[in-house]
Amino acid sequence: MNEKKQVGEKAVEYVKDGMVVGLGTGSTAYYFISKLGELVQQGLSIRGVPTSMQTEQLAKELGIPLVSFNEIEKIDVAVDGADEVDSELNLIKGGGGALLREKIIAASAKTFIIIADSHKNVDTLGAFPLPIEVVPYGFEMTIKHIQNLGGRTKLRQYQGNSFLTDNGNFILDTSFQEIKQPKELEKDLNLIPGVVENGLFVGMADAVITIMDNCIITQVRKEL
Ligand code: 5RP
Repeated sequence: MNEKKQVGEKAVEYVKDGMVVGLGTGSTAYYFISKLGELVQQGLSIRGVPTSMQTEQLAKELGIPLVSFNEIEKIDVAVDGADEVDSELNLIKGGGGALLREKIIAASAKTFIIIADSHKNVDTLGAFPLPIEVVPYGFEMTIKHIQNLGGRTKLRQYQGNSFLTDNGNFILDTSFQEIKQPKELEKDLNLIPGVVENGLFVGMADAVITIMDNCIITQVRKEL
């Protein structure tokens, strides 16, 4: 069976009636949101906060009620995919370009759950180029600062143009080879003027639902 579907559908077990739910972005989150849509049709009462315009569209099509930040105090649980997960549950995210909204929602969630197929598990982060969201103004200079930290940057393209995030920014897909100190790099990158956010999520995931030896397993940082 499709691993993304398995982990995505498993995650709905953490959603309870009345919750505010952060809705992730990407092909794994798709299965979580689709299953959630089915449960809503059957009477589950939740409100969703989407991490991207793409997810907002999907949730609307499925009839999942959405809520905005000014109407809520907190998000109960957020469920999202990842591009890489290390053994300490640190992540690289942003392959879909939604990392800024994803991090805002993850940071506002009481419980942040990652759904990841087996290919996402790594010993050390960094084989997947780290997405960094930068403002278009002066981005050529921002690139130089990132290069001074050892990164090889590539401006993400989409249909022959620079890819634009939902926030109107660029993405630099940046290779650092092996990221041995993700916490330090996450902070150093965000200190560069012009960097809006980067796709390192360090110490944020409370649990990762993944596949090992063909079984669904849930690795937890804290009791859920
Ligand atoms: C989007 C993300 C995604 O969660 C990440 O890219 C994983 O995507 P997929 O589930 O399609 O493999 O961070 O910005």
